[in-house]
Formats: sequence, structure tokens, C-alpha cells
Amino acid sequence: MTEKQIELIRQSWLLVKPASKEAGLAFYEKLFAAAPGIRHLFKKDVSEQADKLMTMLSFVVSKLDGLEDIITDITALGARHNQYGAKPEHYDVVGNCLIETLKDGLAEKWNLELQQAWVAAFTIIKTAMVAAQKTIGSTNESLKDALNSCGEQV
Ligand code: HEM
Repeated sequence: MTEKQIELIRQSWLLVKPASKEAGLAFYEKLFAAAPGIRHLFKKDVSEQADKLMTMLSFVVSKLDGLEDIITDITALGARHNQYGAKPEHYDVVGNCLIETLKDGLAEKWNLELQQAWVAAFTIIKTAMVAAQKTIGSTNESLKDALNSCGEQV
């Protein structure tokens, strides 16, 4: 990501933050309309989840100029998503709905340059989370294989 893109995201996030709750809820509404098949993975009331997502996004936005400092956090977040039932193929719909929510919220302040900046940021986070999901997933499989070969049932 370029410095310009980081600055654009920061400026846009400052505008989203005061309406954080509404934006989080609007995101989940969009997500469940676009992908009803993943609704069951989430609790019935997504209000708390919406807050958690917005807090995580705020954290990421604050660290965009030093993502290497938060790679442990992103990896752990990705790994937790194995337990939530998230699959790599779900990330694109999540990313699209996030972008659409920001676009709706920012209205006339939205433009192609800002969209490209958000897509770039989301792609980095998604890549790190999916890699973590795959690594942890395959580590768990290897552990199961190893234990099974010792006659243990896991
Ligand atoms: C950049 C992408 C994503 C971010 C930043 C993100 C962020 C988060 C955060 C902060 C939480 C709160 C729990 C925790 O910290 O462990 C969470 C939970 C969860 N996420 Fe994600 N997530 C992303 C992508 C996805 C995708 C692709 C799915 C696929 C369905 C997903 C499904 C879930 C579910 C099911 C939960 C638990 C919800 C519950 O307890 O009701 N997430 N996510």
C-alpha cells in the first residue's frame, strides 16, 4: 500500500467512526442478504459482533503503516476463524460487503481511489488470515494423523 492510500483510509475512517454502530450493523445486514448460507455461523444478535468487527478494523486502520507489528494479532484472528467455520471462499463476499457498506456510508466522499485503497488493505488482511487458517488447519490435520497412527482416536 502507498502512503497516499493509507492516508485516504485514515481520513475515511474518521468519517465512519462516529457512525460505527450503524455501519457495523449495516455490514452484517448486507452480508446475510448476499450470503444467507453463512448466517448460521453467527449468533442471532450480531450487535456485539458488529462492535468487535469495528474495533478490529479501527485497530488495523491505526496500524496500516506498520502491519508487520500486528501480524501476530492478524494470524491469531485468522486461526480463530477456523473455529467459527469461516472458509477462504467466504472472504470475498465479506470484503465486497464491507466495501459496499463504506461506499453507502461515505456517499459523495467515496471515489475510485478510495475504493482501491480499501481493496488493497482488505486484500492484505484477508491473505494473512487465510494463510493462518490454512496453516493452523493443516497443523491440526497433521496432529490428528500423528495421533491416529499411534492408535489414538481424535
Ligand atoms: C478481514 C476479514 C475479517 C475480519 C477483520 C474479521 C473479524 C472478526 C472479529 C474481530 C471477530 C470477533 C471474535 C474474535 O476476535 O475472534 C470475528 C468473529 C467471527 N467471524 Fe470474522 N472477520 C473476518 C472475516 C470473516 C469471514 C470471511 C467469515 C466467514 C463466515 C467470518 C465469520 C466470523 C464468525 C462466524 C465469527 C463469530 C461470530 C459469533 O460469535 O457470533 N469472519 N470476526
